[in-house]
Amino acid sequence: MKTKIIVTGGCGYIGSHTAIELIKNDFDVIILDDLSNSTEKTISRIHKITGVTPTFVKIDLKDPLATSTVFKMHNDAAGVIHFAAHKAVGESVQKPLMYYKNNFYSLLNTLESQSEHGINNFIFSSSATVYGTPNTLPITEDNETQRPFSPYGNTKKIAEEILTDFTKSNDAFSAISLRYFNPIGAHPSGEIGELPNGIPNNLMPYITQTAVGLRDKLMVYGNDYLTKDGTPIRDYIHVVDLAKAHVKAINRLIDHKQQQPLETYNLGTGNGFSVMEVIESFERVSGLKLNYEIVGRREGDVPQLFAATDLAYQKMGWKAELGLDEMIDSAWCWEQKHRKHNTSK
Ligand code: NAD
Ligand code: UD1
Repeated sequence: MKTKIIVTGGCGYIGSHTAIELIKNDFDVIILDDLSNSTEKTISRIHKITGVTPTFVKIDLKDPLATSTVFKMHNDAAGVIHFAAHKAVGESVQKPLMYYKNNFYSLLNTLESQSEHGINNFIFSSSATVYGTPNTLPITEDNETQRPFSPYGNTKKIAEEILTDFTKSNDAFSAISLRYFNPIGAHPSGEIGELPNGIPNNLMPYITQTAVGLRDKLMVYGNDYLTKDGTPIRDYIHVVDLAKAHVKAINRLIDHKQQQPLETYNLGTGNGFSVMEVIESFERVSGLKLNYEIVGRREGDVPQLFAATDLAYQKMGWKAELGLDEMIDSAWCWEQKHRKHNTSK
């Protein structure tokens, strides 16, 4: 019998890459998704890559009854990896209640239903946004969190607090919160990748959409920061490396290796790259000139953020292996392949 893992939001960008790594590691994957930001085609794409079709249940996790029913059906699962959430920073500023409602109802219903049915291992998708503007770099997990700039970011900070309280109150329940830095890139098959709705907020999809002709030019938000070339620095991480960390994390809980009821890990490479370095890497990898313009700073941007990654290596034996050019090459392959074959998601 294979060990069963429930993956909420498994049709999305990071969830689908994680489903593939779980299948490669011989897990039985159950995907729960309402397809609000993804497509059911992901399931056949996962089959194309792995030869395995994960079980798919279309469900809105905001619905407590439906959530409880599905967890009852799969009460033999060993754990849950919870990706389901809305994630667009700008939209969350415009529609905060929609973000608080979706991200909290789905989290609370999942926690309640899974513990009701004895599924006591939980991995949470958090974000480096919980660090706000750090005073020291690279940033370690024991740095104090700050109230993030956006309602989206705040849902991550509060969710971590909910997990702290819940794991304290329930001895049987264990959780790991994974703080992602800047996930980019795509599966090397070119079958799955990032598909933002509408105009992208994030740098990588904006670059590839500009290069493919969907956007006129990239706006570089500020070159007057106190960094090597004046543009902000981030810790970009390949989505396949990120996916592999989830397999390590769920195995840690299944094997009862956790030392605290809630553990928190940074997921980054530990290397910071500026916006200009990302553009240079894109031009090197693609052989194209990117149309861009330096404009003013974007509200809420921090000058520099990159991870200390020692803890994830010491405790989970995970470290990122893929470099910036590989991340950008895979994102560019995905964009071209996707645009050629699809007009929709
Ligand atoms: P995504 O939008 O591609 O995937 C999220 C999935 O959840 C989608 O398939 C969506 O349809 C589903 N979903 C949303 N609300 C749901 C609900 N109520 N019920 C069922 N399904 C629902 O996003 P992603 O980039 O894969 O992000 C996954 C997780 O990682 C999210 O929690 C996100 O906040 C977090 N995260 C992402 C990044 C990033 O840069 N992509 C960075 C830090 C943290
Ligand atoms: C953003 C969010 C963060 C979220 C993360 C992952 C903000 C302020 N922060 O992080 O909360 O967790 O995405 O979804 O939105 N850039 C440009 N031009 C662009 C887009 C980005 O110059 O068109 C620059 C930004 O100024 C930044 C860097 O590229 O310096 C990376 O930006 P982005 O990909 O949006 O990630 P973050 O801002 O780190």
